[in-house]
Amino acid sequence: MAGSIAEVNTSRIALEVFRLGWVETVLPYEIDLLSYAAKFGRPVASRRNGTLIDRLAPKPQEEARRNSMSAQRGLETFLFHSDAAYFRVPPRFVFLRLAEGASSTSDTLLLGTRELAFSERQLADLRRDIWVVRSGHSPFYAPVVGCNGGSNSWFLRYDPCCMTPALPGSNKSEAALQNAFAVAKPEAVAWAPEKVIIIDNWRALHAREAVRAEDRDRRLLERVLVVSNQEGRNE
Ligand SMILES: [Fe+2]
Repeated sequence: MAGSIAEVNTSRIALEVFRLGWVETVLPYEIDLLSYAAKFGRPVASRRNGTLIDRLAPKPQEEARRNSMSAQRGLETFLFHSDAAYFRVPPRFVFLRLAEGASSTSDTLLLGTRELAFSERQLADLRRDIWVVRSGHSPFYAPVVGCNGGSNSWFLRYDPCCMTPALPGSNKSEAALQNAFAVAKPEAVAWAPEKVIIIDNWRALHAREAVRAEDRDRRLLERVLVVSNQEGRNE
């Protein structure tokens, strides 16, 4: 099967991801996730000096890395977020696969930006209100809706674990987000062996259900973050 990676029409799949916000597919375990993801662009480590592939296991708060979602939420339901929101420009794609031998009855939750019912005024707040983004030793300021060049290159950046309103009293974008989350209907994606979810990290937020007892030692996801070859393209 390894020879089939090159035959995969990655640009067609990428366009589907851009159109839908995420795509589910199947990648046999003979093919490593990093090689597959690299067909879509440039894999990047989630942390300085980190590996290009992360292995994500549920962690109680006391075992979690500082500033991580697990440090804040432990095994409870994760909050909706973008991955690597602490990058100046977050990577476009997130590839997730259930690791070989792992199992999970705790779903991944997905929420496309099209499902977030923002008014024009709220969108203006999301483009304007400034947040402090904690990024290693170099925090920076950024709004929730950012832009990476062309008119179709806007992206949603949100992770409450590394982002705080710069002026909490005058930040309307936080309320806009919370109101939108309160009425949104996220999609729950169940895990199965070899399943891959490819997320458009600019146009969809994701979360994790609370970890069920049977999954605590058995849930393990592989993750690769990818800067897209087709950064400006979507829709
Ligand atoms: Fe995540």
